[in-house]
Amino acid sequence: MAAPNEEEGAEGRRCHHRSAAMLDVPFLPFCAFLGTLGLLCVAMVGTWCQHWRGGFSLDGSSRTFNWHPVLMVTGLVVLYGAAALVYRIPNTWSGPKLPWKVLHGSLALGAFILTVLGLAAVFCFHNSQGTPNMYSLHSWMGLGTVLLFSCQWAAGFGAFLLPWAPAWLRALYKPIHVFFGSTILLLSVASCASGINEKLFFSLKNGTTAYKLLPAEAVFANTLGLLILIFGVLVVAALARPSWKRPDSDSPDSRQVRDALGGFGKPDWEAAPSAQPRGWGRIEAHPCIPQPLLSSER
Ligand code: HEM
Repeated sequence: MAAPNEEEGAEGRRCHHRSAAMLDVPFLPFCAFLGTLGLLCVAMVGTWCQHWRGGFSLDGSSRTFNWHPVLMVTGLVVLYGAAALVYRIPNTWSGPKLPWKVLHGSLALGAFILTVLGLAAVFCFHNSQGTPNMYSLHSWMGLGTVLLFSCQWAAGFGAFLLPWAPAWLRALYKPIHVFFGSTILLLSVASCASGINEKLFFSLKNGTTAYKLLPAEAVFANTLGLLILIFGVLVVAALARPSWKRPDSDSPDSRQVRDALGGFGKPDWEAAPSAQPRGWGRIEAHPCIPQPLLSSER
């Protein structure tokens, strides 16, 4: 196959830029959309439990179970997703970081509290009905997700909020924290999907409302599952988008790692901004420095 000539190459690049520009949604409207979608998921899971599953109570019956899906979707999907996106808000990019860290940690703590209450509801329901605990794939995956989330919260608190954590540890742990942040959200979405599926199989089994006949409840709950999935994927996509990341290559943490790894002093372009293109290549080529610490996101 013939290699593309220069003109074709330039045209290809132009198309690429054009399509990239078309996808260039501003962050805040995207966030408003995500917020609406999150609220819709919470409203739908509440409506499902209220309208088709008998509502809510604290008496150990199936109405106690109903708190479980509502609290899990609200905590481990919607509130957790909001916590994950805090550092994508452009206002967080300048000025003191501490208030945003506190907001991020508090939203995550709120998500954690709702999650614990949601688990308490289902364990209480199982125990009062004499149903065994932890037998299903859903319960194993769900509990695994919650344990991972607990470790993530504790490690994040220790590394980023306690003042005596060394800056090099923060900078080294940060990419791990970011990776597990997205992973936990996707695991939560998978837990919700398996939980919804399981609940529909348990509940819709008599002749008139069999799941395979696709009654209104099944359409509603399947739709809820898809909306939760879309919410999770959109949050992960927003987290991964380079232009929405905080340009923190110059934070004290990052500088300390840069110095520790390469012995680099102040980069050339900081001393003389006109030297930027030449100084750039030298550091970008260093394999040990994570990309976000480099200048492409400055
Ligand atoms: C992140 C979200 C979720 C997590 C982490 C999670 C976790 C768990 C755990 C650990 C159990 C076991 C409780 C026990 O054995 O006593 C459980 C049970 C259950 N969950 Fe969830 N859950 C989530 C979301 C949902 C949702 C949205 C539904 C939808 C109705 C649901 C439906 C169920 C059902 C029917 C059970 C009882 C049967 C079983 O143990 O598998 N879950 N969940």
